[in-house]
Amino acid sequence: MEKLMISGGRPLQGTVTISGAKNSAIALIPAAILAESEVILDNLPLLSDVAVYSEILEELGANVSWEGNQMRIDPTHIISLPMPNGPVKKLRASYYMMGAMLGRFKEAVIGLPGGCNFEPRPIDQHIKGFEALGATVTNEHGAIHLHAKELKGAKIYLDVVSVGATINIMLAATRAKGSTIIENAAKEPEIIDVATLLNSMGASIKGAGTETIRIEGKSELRGCRHSIIPDRIQAGTYMIAAAATRGNVLIDNVIPKHLEALTAKLIEMGVGIEELDESIRVIGKEKYESIDVKALVYPGFATDLQSPMTSLLTQAEGVSVLSDFVYSNRFKHVPELARMGAKIRVEGRSAIIEGHPLNAAKVKATDLRAGAALVIAGLTVSEGITEVTGVEFIDRGYDHLVTNLRELGADVWRQND
Ligand code: EPU
Repeated sequence: MEKLMISGGRPLQGTVTISGAKNSAIALIPAAILAESEVILDNLPLLSDVAVYSEILEELGANVSWEGNQMRIDPTHIISLPMPNGPVKKLRASYYMMGAMLGRFKEAVIGLPGGCNFEPRPIDQHIKGFEALGATVTNEHGAIHLHAKELKGAKIYLDVVSVGATINIMLAATRAKGSTIIENAAKEPEIIDVATLLNSMGASIKGAGTETIRIEGKSELRGCRHSIIPDRIQAGTYMIAAAATRGNVLIDNVIPKHLEALTAKLIEMGVGIEELDESIRVIGKEKYESIDVKALVYPGFATDLQSPMTSLLTQAEGVSVLSDFVYSNRFKHVPELARMGAKIRVEGRSAIIEGHPLNAAKVKATDLRAGAALVIAGLTVSEGITEVTGVEFIDRGYDHLVTNLRELGADVWRQND
């Protein structure tokens, strides 16, 4: 096992180029199963989750080749194989195999997902959607069994706004008979990205990015070529790191609109921001004001940036309140930050953060974004070395993190634990 070593206190300076979005990639790869010929994905992030997904598809008989940032998936000879165990268990997003396999084969057996379990993450809305489309869904010994004689379009109202359920229902419904309407759909950019791929494959999906999505099912979909959108969470993490280290960083290859909620909050704190067409410059300042932040579904402040933002708010003067209305208890980074001297208490869905300098410590990443928060915290500390274990979580979502940070002038390295 490796750990990250951080000798902080250096302002980040320079340019960082953002890779393709993880949360798109891990939906786009299984979406390829729905095609009858080769799908080419460009701007693919080089992440452990992406590697696991390609392993899953290969196990099913797809021909997968991966060169640089391009993945070619030929699903022509894919077969319907039960996957109660194996690599599906390693990933949270393996739930997309349910929608994709159900769409293509009208049946699937998928082991319940693993991944970042910072709190119980139910999939009842996914199942509600599959059942509405005509599938029988049972949970047998920790694996979800799905079966349908025929998938038929339906009107589905999501009780909870869910990214995963919206995408999963879209996947299955593209191969159902007739029209499906998803009401109270999630509006995240990754949903539009998946709809764009599916439409290029010949699907008919309208309204992705709004709360009502309409899908006309097709009996067959074909291969295509698609470029993945930039990762707004990775971009936001570097923006926060630039501000926290009082640096000056150009975050390149981003869609600034996807980062509006974060940009607004950084400006409110006193961070300098310059928005360009496909990049954002973050100019750190010596003093920051405390602010209140509420993590909400898109276009609100992203829950995935809540933990990194906690680290930044330790650098502000006064008391900030950061609440998460997407997950009720995504605060596993807080006790770790406390080891570094942070003054934070959690009350219900909120972290109350008193601005205070941090010190170096040995800390543990317990999930992906908690890991990013600890790295940012370590970058602010000028004396001593912060050691972050649990690097495998960070590798799930940050492409070339150490290389990128080193290019920005940080003193960060990996070491065997
Ligand atoms: N929920 C339910 N029932 C469901 C589905 C979700 O109650 O059937 C609840 C969840 O418990 C949560 C809320 O609805 O409280 C939103 O969950 P959502 O389904 O939107 O989350 P997800 O699809 O499982 C994706 C990202 C997460 C990100 C969330 C919210 C992927 C693979 N994961 O998860 O990303 O936090 O959307 O934006 O796309 C991360 O990247 O670190 C990460 C955890």
